[in-house]
Formats: sequence, C-alpha cells, structure tokens
Amino acid sequence: MLLRVNDISKSYKSRFGRTIREVLRETSLVLEKGEKIAVAGPSGSGKTTLLNLIGALDFPDQGEIIFNGKPLSGMTAKQLAGFRNREIGFIFQSHHLLPQLTLWENILVPVLPGNEPRKLVYRRAAELLKETGLWEIRHQKPGELSGGECQRTAVVRALINRPSLVLADEPTGSLDSENANMLIDLLVRLGTKEESAMVVVTHSMEIASGMDKIYNLGSGKLKRAVPGQGRKEQGAPEQDKDA
Ligand SMILES: Nc1ncnc2c1ncn2[C@@H]1O[C@H](COP(=O)(O)OP(=O)(O)OP(=O)(O)O)[C@@H](O)[C@H]1O
Ligand SMILES: [Mg+2]
Repeated sequence: MLLRVNDISKSYKSRFGRTIREVLRETSLVLEKGEKIAVAGPSGSGKTTLLNLIGALDFPDQGEIIFNGKPLSGMTAKQLAGFRNREIGFIFQSHHLLPQLTLWENILVPVLPGNEPRKLVYRRAAELLKETGLWEIRHQKPGELSGGECQRTAVVRALINRPSLVLADEPTGSLDSENANMLIDLLVRLGTKEESAMVVVTHSMEIASGMDKIYNLGSGKLKRAVPGQGRKEQGAPEQDKDA
C-alpha cells in the first residue's frame, strides 16, 4: 500500500471566523502502488482541499495521512519538504510554470535541489521532452507556448523526479477536448511506465473512465462511483478494500 488516508476531517473558518465550513468529514482512501484513480465531485466539494492534504501543502484537523507506512504528521518540516519534492508530482489546473524561465529550465526546477548527477538528470529531461514532442521548443518561455504545450511541460516537470504519486487537479481544465485527451494519454502513459500512482481530479467522464477506479466526493466523503465506470470496475468485481 502506498497511501492511506484515515478518517480525515478539514474545516475552514469564514473570513471573520464566525462560521466554520466542514469540507472533509472523516473521509478515507487507500491507494496501492501504481494505482490510478479519478476523483469527481461538484465545485466546492473539497477536491483541491483533498489533494493539498495528501501532498502535505496543508494539514487535516483530524485523522491521519500515512504514506509508505509513515504518518505525515510525524515528519519534520525538512522531511515534509523532501517528501513533497521526491515522492509527489503536482499538476495544477493552470500550469504554474515560471514565466521568466525557459521550458527546459522549468522542468529542471524540481531536480535542482537533489543530488542526482547532472548528466543523468539532463539525459532524463531530454528523453522526456523528446517523448512529449517538446524538445524543439525547449528554449522558449511559457509566454511563447500554447496552452497544451504548457500543460505538457507541467506533466514533464511533475514526472521528472519519478514520483511515486502524481496529484493532478483538473489538469485539462484549460484545454480543448483534443488537447485534453492528448494530455491524459501522455500522463497515463508516462505514469504507467514509471509505475507512479495517480489521483486525478476531473469533471470528464471520458478521462475518469481511463483510470483504475472512480471516486465521487460529496458531503465531505469519498465514495466509489457506481461499478462499471473505472477500468478495474468494468471487469470482474474486485474486493472493495476500502469499503
Ligand atoms: N483557504 C481557504 N479558506 C477558506 N475556505 C476555503 C479555503 N480553501 C477552500 N475553501 C472552501 O472550501 C470549499 C472546498 O474548496 P475546494 O477548493 O477544495 O473545492 P473543489 O472541489 O476543488 O472545487 P472546484 O471544483 O471549484 O475546484 C469551498 O467552499 C471553498 O470556498
Ligand atoms: Mg478545485
């Protein structure tokens, strides 16, 4: 097991602290190594909140998130920074690339703090760029790239460190359907090659049905979507480990 989210709750205070909105309510999730899931749910249901908690960008009020057997709450700030950098690849709805850096420099940002030999890092970066059709434009800056090219760059940046878990928050939200499908194919292809697990927040049933399982977030809880939708749910019924 890669990740166990154990009965987590998260509330936000209103602007003046008078009312409290409980976004996640004792919700749980189990993710195996390499497992790819989609999370759907209405706007405001807490999908981004959930990704932020799993990626240790924020912390639950109650409950525990356990990654590779270690609770995130027991880690020091330094260990958490290492966890975010080495184990997690983030992809956001808009690409979050640094505008003053070239595409090549952008994808190297996550690897610079590491101590992997530069030669190996550059070779891997070059391979990924060639594989994603970005090699020829690697010296351009995000402002000189199309939306699809920026999101592909964001996928490469998320995968450059071979993370064990990729967290993608509506990664195709700003793309037309052709570019969206291309991006998801790329994400799944590269992620499968690297055996990365994935949590992909998406409104698209087409994208969700390409994942192993589909969850819906509603009323603060994650529930498996009706059988027959995710890839693993189309075949023989599988034991629902997290029921
Ligand atoms: N930092 C914050 N402070 C206060 N309230 C917040 C904060 N972040 C999120 N919220 C509230 O928590 C709820 C869940 O937000 P979240 O961004 O997780 O939803 P979401 O499911 O990702 O929505 P969308 O599909 O629109 O992206 C919303 O009502 C939002 O207003
Ligand atoms: Mg969101």
